[in-house]
Parts: sequence; structure tokens; C-alpha cells
Amino acid sequence: MSATALDLQPYASLDDRDCDKRIIKAKQALGNRVVILGHHYQRDEVFKHADYSGDSLKLSREAANSEAEYIVFCGVHFMAEVADIISRPDQISIIPDLSAGCAMADMANLEQVERAWAELSSVLDADECITPVTYINSAADLKSFCGSHGGIVCTSTNAQKILDWSFSRREKVLFFPDQHLGRNTGVKMGIPLEDMVIWDYDQPMGGLETEQIRQAKMILWKGFCSVHQMFKPEHIENFKREVPDGKVISHPEASYEVCQLSDYVGSTEYIIKTITDSEPGSHWLVGTELNLVNRLHQTLAKDNKTVQFMSPMVCMCSTMFRVDPQHLAWVLENLVAGHVVNQVSVAEDVANNARTALQRMLEI
Ligand code: 13P
Ligand code: SF4
Repeated sequence: MSATALDLQPYASLDDRDCDKRIIKAKQALGNRVVILGHHYQRDEVFKHADYSGDSLKLSREAANSEAEYIVFCGVHFMAEVADIISRPDQISIIPDLSAGCAMADMANLEQVERAWAELSSVLDADECITPVTYINSAADLKSFCGSHGGIVCTSTNAQKILDWSFSRREKVLFFPDQHLGRNTGVKMGIPLEDMVIWDYDQPMGGLETEQIRQAKMILWKGFCSVHQMFKPEHIENFKREVPDGKVISHPEASYEVCQLSDYVGSTEYIIKTITDSEPGSHWLVGTELNLVNRLHQTLAKDNKTVQFMSPMVCMCSTMFRVDPQHLAWVLENLVAGHVVNQVSVAEDVANNARTALQRMLEI
């Protein structure tokens, strides 16, 4: 064991092929002491080293079931936090680059949510009437807020079931941070658009009148994912003109208009399954992150399927992209040398209530 942790700096100049060899060697040395989880948006050079890949829900379950001492999460920060919260106390959650955050998750913080709750409580009895629901793309303290206010976490896979659960308990939902997932799921459940209001966290009372709050069924936080907001209805209209029998599939973080024009809407795992199970020779327009779409395009070319990215612009999750083979080699070789670097650890008081909200979700 080396006395101090290995420095990151020399890894920056390694080429991807050298990293590859070193990652494989370090994984072999660690054996089943380590598990690598890879989100679908991860770049190929990292994704190929994952023991398990999946969407947020699937990877949360993998983290909860894992026996490994070290969970190396190739994704973004909130995912590694979830792994820390739901794994055993002796397991260690690690993210190769601590700056790999989620820009949408950063659009809601605890101070803003607590202020919103206090302002809503000045209009109605919030604890009686409102279930707070946080998308898993959020910081641990927001999950903790939901856990301690009778609320719950959802992912893009289970949002409808979670909203059913929430409405069976209280008449309204405060949904944060992604307005689009909230709106698209609400519409799918038959909730009229006029029963949903936007909570603008930069304005007093969310920019709403008292009567609007009283009337609303869903109060949607004004957050969004800039990657998914790049997709526009005209991209679909152009595609439909050019490929009339082509199919369109989008992630529910895309806008209402895009989801309405799409043939299918669902999580990354759903998108992969739907296209993989489709007829050979089919042509798809896909509204989600570029790394995933490129991977589908390459792997399904053998079935003569065409998988096309929705936007003419490049829409990559730039924060997920920060996890590169150089950082992965660095964290793994440190583990081999007996050092934990880039541990993601959630304070126990926050983790306890966050776990409550996550477990409510995992039980549904
Ligand atoms: P999934 O749960 O569908 O993988 O989505 C996570 C995400 O961050 C999408 O932007
Ligand atoms: Fe967050 Fe958007 Fe990246 Fe998903 S794609 S992790 S929502 S920034």
C-alpha cells in the first residue's frame, strides 16, 4: 500500500488505450470488492467497463443489492449519493469525478424548497394537502425533505405510479425539480394542463396568486434539463415529412409539445428496450442524450435499424461526460493501493430521511 493517495495529474496525459489496460488490470486485482455502475449516457470508453448499466431506477436497485465493498458510480453526483444512502454502512460510494453534477438537480436547493413550503403553508395546510415529490435527479437533502414531509422520490420510469401513490394520500403534489417530467406524467394520467401551475422559485409565492395555488392539482417546479429542452416540435415534423413511417421516441424530460408529438415516451431503459424490440429495418428518431443514441445506432445497425438523433445540434450531458477513463483508472488504482478517493458520503441525519423517501419508492 502506498502511503498517500495517487495523484490525479499524471493520469490526465494517459491515452484511452493505456487507461483501458490499467482499468482492466485494477478491476481484476479488486475482484468482487468493486462494482462499477454505468448510466446509459456515459461515454463508450467508460461505459464498456461497467458491470451493470441502466437508468436511474435500475442502477438504484443494483446499488441496493450490491455486495461489493466499493460502488464506483459512473454517472452524476446525485446517483452516487443514492448509492451511498441505500447501500450498507460499510460500503463506500465513489464517483470518478466529483464535479460531475446534474444541472437540472442544481435548479432546486433545500432553502428554496423550504421557502416554497412555508409560502404554500400560508395559503393552505401544506402538510395536510400536498405530497412533495422529488425526481431522483435532486440533492440528498431534498430527498430528505420529502422523507420527513410524507413525500417520496420518483424516476422517469415510475413517475406515474409514484403520482398515483401521492394523490391517494393528499389532493395536491409539489413536484420538483423537473417541470417537464411532472407535466408529461400528469397529462398521461388525465390531469388537465390548467390544473398544473409553475412554481417560479425566483419569485415570492412562486409568482402565483393565492387562488391559483388553491385550484392547482400539481405545482411544478420551474426546473428543466437543458439537454432535453433542445428538442423541438419542428424536428419531429421534419422527420415525419421525410420518413412518414418512421417512429419517434422521447424521454419525458423533453417538453410537453415534443412528447405529445412522439409515438413513445419513456425512460432511457424504456427507449433502449422499445427500439431493440422493434421490427428489423425500422427507422427511429430519438429525443434523448447523444451518447445513448449513438450507441443504439451502432449496435442496432446489424438489424438494419436506423436510429437517428432528434436535434441537428449536439446535445450531450456535459457533466456526465466529465467521467472519463482517466478518472476511472485513477480511482480504481487508488483502491488497489488501499486509498479511497472521491468518496460520496451523505450525512447520517440527511441520509435517514432520504432513505425513507427512497424506500417508499423502491417498495412501489
Ligand atoms: P433515466 O432515469 O431515464 O436514466 O434518466 C436520468 C436522466 O438524468 C435523464 O436525463
Ligand atoms: Fe441531469 Fe440532464 Fe444530464 Fe440527465 S441529461 S443527468 S437531467 S443534466
